[in-house]
Amino acid sequence: MIVEIEGLRKVYDGKQRVVAVDGIDLNVRPGELYGLLGPNGAGKTTTISICTTRVLPTAGVVRIAGIDVVKTPALARKRIGVVPQYNTLDRACTVYENIFFHCLYFGFSRVDARERTVKLLEQFHLSERGEAYPSQLSGGLAQRVQIARAIAHRPSVLFLDEPSAGLDPQSRIAMWEAVRNLRQEGITVVLTTHYMEEADELCERVAIIDHGKILVEDTPSALKGSVGAQRVYELDLRTQQGMPQLMSELERRPGIASVETTASGLRIFAEGAEGLLSEVVSLANPYGLRDLTITETSLETVFIRLTGRELRE
Ligand SMILES: Nc1ncnc2c1ncn2[C@@H]1O[C@H](COP(=O)(O)OP(=O)(O)O)[C@@H](O)[C@H]1O
Ligand SMILES: [Mg+2]
Repeated sequence: MIVEIEGLRKVYDGKQRVVAVDGIDLNVRPGELYGLLGPNGAGKTTTISICTTRVLPTAGVVRIAGIDVVKTPALARKRIGVVPQYNTLDRACTVYENIFFHCLYFGFSRVDARERTVKLLEQFHLSERGEAYPSQLSGGLAQRVQIARAIAHRPSVLFLDEPSAGLDPQSRIAMWEAVRNLRQEGITVVLTTHYMEEADELCERVAIIDHGKILVEDTPSALKGSVGAQRVYELDLRTQQGMPQLMSELERRPGIASVETTASGLRIFAEGAEGLLSEVVSLANPYGLRDLTITETSLETVFIRLTGRELRE
């Protein structure tokens, strides 16, 4: 295992005591693309900050390529690349210089640093922007420069914190492509996200994290399969009256796996049975059906199933 996390805890002792990470164990295999998916405040950034030696844990152990990040942080940092959530490019330096100086900092000779920088600019389709300053770059380009810089010293593991936060859809897809290509170099990638599409599209394995704990961990398709339903119907009802009766009527229908209440009505987990929509509508109409949305099962559904909440609430 290239990343080993055992019994990790982080308690922030400020005015208010916050248990940000509450006993996390996880292992990432070499070359894997691993995702931590969870809502705001779940403890994702704290976990990554501990792995990358920015924050000290309250308890637990993190090893990167067998190196303990608390005992030997300087050694660990050579094996780690980081792209934090916010742009940390040096604004006084060009794109080229940002990568070049990073290489020098990690002990490259000037000749090697130049060669590595030129190669990375090519690889990330940035050759024409080498002389640009960070303020002249779009969010998507800046993100690519950050990734190029983060892997410049050839780390074993790249940590990406919310890599697509604030990116437009097109830049997000370009970023995904850049991250996928890293696998060809054998770099292990650990990313955090609160976008279920991103975890689903990009990651080979995903840990769903909430309140500092891992709720489940598996491949995206296994996680979606665990819901036992292909579709989710959200019913918006005008009144709460008769809800228990409607629930039991719905639960009796073949094709409906389960029903639960929400703030504005009911949520139905359904298998892909034919004709179910019209049956649901006619059953719910007498109870004041106002609106109905149908979604395919996603990692969001898995999160809702586990917590009763939506990822982006
Ligand atoms: N430096 C800090 N001091 C106090 N509390 C913090 C600090 N950093 C994060 N927290 C709290 O720890 C919890 C987890 O935060 P974070 O790791 O940033 O979650 P995420 O990245 O999943 O949004 C949140 O409740 C947050 O407010
Ligand atoms: Mg965060």
